[in-house]
Amino acid sequence: MARGGARFIVVSNRLPFAFRRGVDGAWQADPGSGGLVTALLPVLRDRGGTWIGWPGAPGPAREFASALSTAGAKAGYALAAVPLDEAEVRGFYLGFSNEIVWPLFHDLPSLCNFDPSYWKTYTEVNRKYAKVVAPHAERNDFVWVHDYHLMSVGSELRRAGCKARLAFFLHIPFPGPDIFMKLPWRKSLLESLLQYDLVGFQTVRDRRNFVACVQAVLPDAGVEGRGSTLTVAVEGRRVRVGSFPISIDYNAFMRAADSPPVAEKARELHRLLPQRKLVLGIDRLDYTKGIALRLRAFELLLERHPDVRGKLSLLQVVVPSREEVPQYRAMKLEIEQLVGRINGAFARPGGWVPIWYEYRSLSRLELLAYYRAADIALVTPLKDGMNLVAKEYCACSIEEDCILILSEFAGAAEQLGRGALLVNPYDVEGVAGALRTAHAMPQEERVARMRAMRRAIRRNDVFDWVDGFLRAAISRDLGDFPAPQTARGAAELPEVPF
Ligand code: G6P
Repeated sequence: MARGGARFIVVSNRLPFAFRRGVDGAWQADPGSGGLVTALLPVLRDRGGTWIGWPGAPGPAREFASALSTAGAKAGYALAAVPLDEAEVRGFYLGFSNEIVWPLFHDLPSLCNFDPSYWKTYTEVNRKYAKVVAPHAERNDFVWVHDYHLMSVGSELRRAGCKARLAFFLHIPFPGPDIFMKLPWRKSLLESLLQYDLVGFQTVRDRRNFVACVQAVLPDAGVEGRGSTLTVAVEGRRVRVGSFPISIDYNAFMRAADSPPVAEKARELHRLLPQRKLVLGIDRLDYTKGIALRLRAFELLLERHPDVRGKLSLLQVVVPSREEVPQYRAMKLEIEQLVGRINGAFARPGGWVPIWYEYRSLSRLELLAYYRAADIALVTPLKDGMNLVAKEYCACSIEEDCILILSEFAGAAEQLGRGALLVNPYDVEGVAGALRTAHAMPQEERVARMRAMRRAIRRNDVFDWVDGFLRAAISRDLGDFPAPQTARGAAELPEVPF
């Protein structure tokens, strides 16, 4: 039951539900994936909250109304849809968000398609989100907007006269000025972000990059303070800027990995790999994940070190994603060719196969069993806001006798860098070397490293992340909004990890 007072409004590109048509043709909503919803649930329920977003399927708002109210009643908070038509999905989601911001913010400007029509649609669609949010957001309410699709929702709300407290969290990295300055709409975008009261980033590096970009593009902005949260003074307003590394529901992952069906499935995998170590890669299909370079590193290891042949197998899972964007389709082909080439060179009939490749979504049971069974996790994104696979792998490694090889360009390296073997994902010799080191590492060292990482994640789980963000948002002049509260481990794990 909602308490009186300020309301809590969450805005994200997608609603945390998957919509599908039932037998009668009407939409039905199944609870979606993600630690974010688990962590926000207690606050949403307590404050009579609302989650606003795109249903991810075509159709006008009225078609989703019944599914939304049924799903909202079950979930304990309200849902509101922002329907998008085909042209909006093309220009806003596939276009500006995924052909401009995504590659640019991951330091890959050569992959950007700076089509001016994308910016126009992005602004219009952000205004559309703001129009749905505005009636829910009164002076004392708190609006938390998520991720790169919605950077201009705050300024559109302000333009419409909204007085609510507005906060934004960017789940992906923020680039340094050399890269950001290439964006034709850099000034408008920064001015939009500075309409929020609090802007949060994953890492100290992202926050530093943002402040450097503000100083380069808006020379009149002043930056004050030290420590984890800074203040940017601009046009008489003060905007707080901080870093808040996102995490996972550590206890829920650990408990689920400890269940008998997961243990049995993990044992089954080992039975298929007698005397071999299992190296695991799990990624959404995305060029930022460094999958092709990782395969090349594995190939190099096998070429240069015949002694490891037959002793390591790589299980690479690629979860389908954004296949409408041309680069994603091209990348899928490249991965398939590389897997074919490597297996063609090294596999023997009836014997060892170097790479097991799966292109599909995993069930929760499979995911947990893969995590639990893997001796080495190979997490080598070229750049990543955080990378929760790395944290989930550690949480599920209940025997603690395993190794994480982690890209130094993943946000998670800031917290796990002392336990993981850190690598530069572009350095295929270095990654091959790390695999060899991992293969030969003594058990005592493996356990000590994994234990340290598990401790770090346990001490800063996703509930601490929500608390930390809300505490930063409500401190000082932001009044009485919701006392952060945790419900650690109270919710079920999501069915699908991505
Ligand atoms: C990244 C983004 C999320 C996004 C997810 C899946 O993790 O930060 O905002 O939801 O990828 O991508 P999709 O395009 O399918 O929503």
